[in-house]
Amino acid sequence: MNISILGTGNVGRRLGQLLAAKGHRITFGSRLQNGESMVDLSFADTVTTYSEAVIVSDIVVIATPWAGDITLNMLRTVNKFEGKIVVDCTNPLAPDYMSNLIGHTTSAAEEIAKIVAPAQVVKAFNTIFAEVMEDGKQNFSDQMATGFYCGNDAEAKAIVCQLISDAGFDPVDAGSLKNARYLEPMAQLNIQIAYSMNGGTDVAFRYMRRPQTSLMPS
Ligand SMILES: NC(=O)c1ccc[n+]([C@@H]2O[C@H](COP(=O)([O-])OP(=O)(O)OC[C@H]3O[C@@H](n4cnc5c(N)ncnc54)[C@H](OP(=O)(O)O)[C@@H]3O)[C@@H](O)[C@H]2O)c1
Repeated sequence: MNISILGTGNVGRRLGQLLAAKGHRITFGSRLQNGESMVDLSFADTVTTYSEAVIVSDIVVIATPWAGDITLNMLRTVNKFEGKIVVDCTNPLAPDYMSNLIGHTTSAAEEIAKIVAPAQVVKAFNTIFAEVMEDGKQNFSDQMATGFYCGNDAEAKAIVCQLISDAGFDPVDAGSLKNARYLEPMAQLNIQIAYSMNGGTDVAFRYMRRPQTSLMPS
C-alpha cells in the first residue's frame, strides 16, 4: 500500500521502517528544514512536504507533536484529506510530556477528525513506545505487544488492523473513535511508569483474553 507518514521523528521513522520492510511504499511528509529532511530516511520512497505527502497516498499517518497545537495547525494548513484514511498516532501531551492536555470530553483523535472530515480517522499505535517499534522488539519472550486501535468506519479499521499486524503487533479493536479518550490516557500511564518510576520505555501493554471469550453480548 502507499502510506504517507507526517513527521519524521521517533514514531514516524520507526513505523515507516517496519511498514517498508513489509513491502509498503512509504512517503514522508516533513517540514524539510534547510530544504531537506534532517534524518536518514533512505528506506522511504520519497520525502516531501506535508501537503504533497497527503496527496500521494490513501493512507496518511499522523506522527507529530500535540503541544502548542502543532498537529492541529499543520492539518489545517494541509487539509486535503477527502477520501483518505487517517491513522492518528498522537497523544495530547503537555510540553513536558507528564500530563495530557485534553481528555474525558474529547480526545486528540476526535479533534483531528473534525479537521480532516470527511476522512475516516483510526486511532492506532499511540499506546506503543517508539522504542518498541524497532524491528524485533515487538515481542516480549513469547508475548506480542498489543496494538489497540479505534475508529468509526469498519473498512478503515480493517485496513489499519492489517497495518498493525504488518508492523508486528497484535491488533485489538477498542471500539469507536470516542474510545480514543481512554487509549490516550493509557499512553500517559505508560509515560508515568517509564519516566516517573524509571520503568524505561522498552515495555508494552498486552491485552489478554481467554480463547472462548466473545466480545459480543450474549
Ligand atoms: N515517542 C513515543 O514513544 C510515542 C509513542 C506513541 C505515540 N507518540 C506520539 O506520536 C507523536 C510523535 O511522537 P515522536 O516521539 O515521534 O515525536 P518527535 O520525535 O518529536 O517527532 C515529531 C516530528 O513531528 C514533526 N514536527 C512538525 N512540526 C513540528 C514542530 N513544530 N516541532 C517539532 N516537531 C515537529 C517533526 O518532523 P519533521 O522535522 O520531519 O517535520 C518531528 O520529527 C506525538 O504526538 C507523540 O505523543 C509517541
